[in-house]
Amino acid sequence: MSREESVLRFEKVSFEYGHNKPILDEVDFPVRRGMKMAVMGQNGAGKSTLFALMSGTLKPDSGEIHVSQGVTIATAPQVIPRDQLSLAVREFFLKCFTEPVYDIDPRIDAVLEVVNLKQHKKLHERVMSSFSGGQQARLLLASALIQNPDLLLLDEPTNNLDTAGIEHLTKFLVEYPSTCIVISHDAKFLNAFTTGVLYLDVFTRKIEQYPGNYNDVQRDILARIDRENKKNAQLEKKIQENKDKANFFAQKGGKMRLVAKKMRTEVEEMEESKVAVRKEDKTIRPFTIPAQQDLSGVILTLTSYTLHGGKKSVTKKANISLLKNQHLLLKGPNGIGKSTLLERIVLGSPEGSHIAEGVKVGYYRQDFSTLDFEQTVFATLMKAIGQPDEERLRATAAGFLLSSDVIQTKIGDLSEGQKGLVAFASLVLERPGLLILDEPTNHINFRHLPIIAKALDQYAGAMILVSHVPEFVEQIRIDDILDLGK
Ligand SMILES: Nc1ncnc2c1ncn2[C@@H]1O[C@H](COP(=O)(O)OP(=O)(O)OP(=O)(O)O)[C@@H](O)[C@H]1O
Ligand SMILES: [Mg+2]
Repeated sequence: MSREESVLRFEKVSFEYGHNKPILDEVDFPVRRGMKMAVMGQNGAGKSTLFALMSGTLKPDSGEIHVSQGVTIATAPQVIPRDQLSLAVREFFLKCFTEPVYDIDPRIDAVLEVVNLKQHKKLHERVMSSFSGGQQARLLLASALIQNPDLLLLDEPTNNLDTAGIEHLTKFLVEYPSTCIVISHDAKFLNAFTTGVLYLDVFTRKIEQYPGNYNDVQRDILARIDRENKKNAQLEKKIQENKDKANFFAQKGGKMRLVAKKMRTEVEEMEESKVAVRKEDKTIRPFTIPAQQDLSGVILTLTSYTLHGGKKSVTKKANISLLKNQHLLLKGPNGIGKSTLLERIVLGSPEGSHIAEGVKVGYYRQDFSTLDFEQTVFATLMKAIGQPDEERLRATAAGFLLSSDVIQTKIGDLSEGQKGLVAFASLVLERPGLLILDEPTNHINFRHLPIIAKALDQYAGAMILVSHVPEFVEQIRIDDILDLGK
C-alpha cells in the first residue's frame, strides 16, 4: 500500500501515563483514506487515549504520528468534558474551532438537523448539562460533524441513544463519504458499516489490524490462538524427543557427545521459535449484588410523576408499589424524562413517590456523578463497604478487573468503562435494598454484559432499570413496566 493513500500513519508510537501505565508500545499502522474502521479492546486498554493521540491532544513519548497534508481531524468524545457541562450550546460549539466563526447559529441548526435533535426555541442558550443522556450523545456527534473533518473519530457514539437514534446514526455512517474510525461495544451497529478493525491488545500494547467486520475478527482471533497453541504443542513434542535422545547419546560418551550437543542446540532453537500465544481479553468474574437484609413490605411507592418535556409539564398518575424481589423497567424515548424521574425518586421528591424508611438505595447513575472523581478507587470502595475489610474490598475489585494499580488511581483518571466497573463493585459491597440503574451498559465492554445481566436478573431486592439495549433487558427478569412514552 502506498503511503499517499493513508490519511494518518503511526510509526513506532509509544505512550504511557506515568511509569507504570503503558498504553502503546512501538505501534505501527496506517489508516487508509475512505476506510471505516472500528477500534476494539477491553475497558481501560487505551482506545480513547488512541483518539487523543490521533487528534494531537496528547503527544507520543516516542515515535511519529504522520497526518497527511491538509487532513483535518475531529473527535466526538465519549462524554462531555466536565468543565464544558456548564457551557451554553452556542459556546460549546464555538469551542470546536480555533478561529472565530461568525455564522455559528445557522451552522448549529444545520448540524442538529443531521443528528436528528429536535429543535426547541432558545436551544442555543440552553446549558449542556440540562440535556438528557441521549440528547447529549447527539450534541457530541454534532460537535464533530460541524467541523466537517476529513477524518471523523467517534468514541462510543451509541451510548444512551434510543433505537430510533441508533438507526439514524447507522444510516448516516453508511452513507458518510469520508474516513471514519469508531470506538463502540455495539457489534450490530459496527457491523453495519465498518470494513476493518484496529484491535488494541492490552497484553502486548500493540495495535493489530484486521480486515472484515467485528464477527470476522472475533473468529480470526480465536483461530489464531488455536493455531499458535497447536504450533507450540508440536514444538514441545519435538523438544521433548530431542532432549530424550540427547540424554541417551550423552551417556554413550565419545563421539556421541557431539551429537548430543548438536541436539541440545536444536532444542534451544526450538524453544526460541515458540510463539507468544495471543491472549484473549479478560471478562469480569460472575457476581451477585446481595440485597439488604430484613427487607419487608412495600419498598417504593409511586403514585404520580411529572414530565417536563416540550412547552409545558404534565403530571401523570401511576400505581406502583415495589416489593422485595420485584423488578420494574422504566421505558420511553430519549429526552422524555427517565433519568430525571429516577433522580427525584432517589431524592425522595415530596409528591408522588416514597421510599420506605431504612431502605438503602444503590444508585447507578448514567454520568457516574454519584462517584467522587477526586477520590481513589480504594477510598470509594472502602466507603461502599462501610467497614475496614480490605481483603473483601480487594477480592471484589479483582473480580471487576480493577487491579492493584487501578485501585490506587483517582476515579477521574479512569476510563469510562472502568468507572462503570467501579460503580458495580460499589453496589456489590453496599448491599442495597432498592437498586436503581440508569443505562448500566454504557461504556461497558460487550463481553461483560451477560454477566451483569445475570447479576441483575437474580437481584432479590427491589429494582428499577432504564436501558436502551433490548438484548440486555431480555436477559433480566422484569415484573412490571412503566412506559413514560405512552
Ligand atoms: N489522565 C490520566 N492519568 C492517568 N491515567 C489515565 C489518564 N487517563 C486515562 N488513564 C488510564 O489509561 C488507561 C486507558 O484509558 P482510556 O480512557 O484510553 O481507555 P479506553 O480503552 O478508552 O477504555 P473504555 O473502554 O473504558 O472507554 C486506563 O487504565 C486509565 O485509567
Ligand atoms: Mg474510552
